[in-house]
Amino acid sequence: MSVTNDIERVLVSKEEISGRISELANEISQDYADADSLLLVSILRGAFIFTADLARNLTVKHSVDFIALASYQKSTSSGEVRMISDLRQSIEGRHVLIVEDIVDSGMTLAYMSNLLRERNPASVKSCVMVAKEGVDINGSGLGVDYLGFVIPDVWVVGYGLDYDDQYRTLPYIAELKPGIYQ
Ligand code: IMP
Ligand code: MG
Repeated sequence: MSVTNDIERVLVSKEEISGRISELANEISQDYADADSLLLVSILRGAFIFTADLARNLTVKHSVDFIALASYQKSTSSGEVRMISDLRQSIEGRHVLIVEDIVDSGMTLAYMSNLLRERNPASVKSCVMVAKEGVDINGSGLGVDYLGFVIPDVWVVGYGLDYDDQYRTLPYIAELKPGIYQ
């Protein structure tokens, strides 16, 4: 059966995503024009597609590394963030840009920012593809510096986002049929 049968509605189209990514990449390239050590820290697995597209739109010199975290079992938060694998390199003195797929409670991003700040980087900012409506993106410890889209508070899949490890490769961001995740 086709995966598209499980989709309630498309919230952000493929075209909207690519348009917004080039805007974000331009903004980031300008902001880091004078920094010669920009490091994108991509949070696996959800951010891998977003990271690939964002990075390829940057005109400023940068490198990419990955950190793997887990906090969710299907669609319910386990209430804790676990590190599955760490970065390969030291970030001391580097300008770090965390690249994350989605901010829901904000726990994952806050955990990441705190963790990376302890390692003496030159700076830590974040670029998030989507935030759920109602999330205070400037709230305590959060600080989303670059944001793609605000979406309704529903379970979304596609463009890297999964439900039970499926639907990640859909080219758009869509609401999953509530019957599947509730
Ligand atoms: P937070 O820690 O509650 O902000 O959740 C962030 C993490 O939960 C993200 O990195 C995603 O992996 C996952 N997540 C939260 N909401 C969704 C969703 O609607 N679809 C897919 N993954 C989600
Ligand atoms: Mg994630």
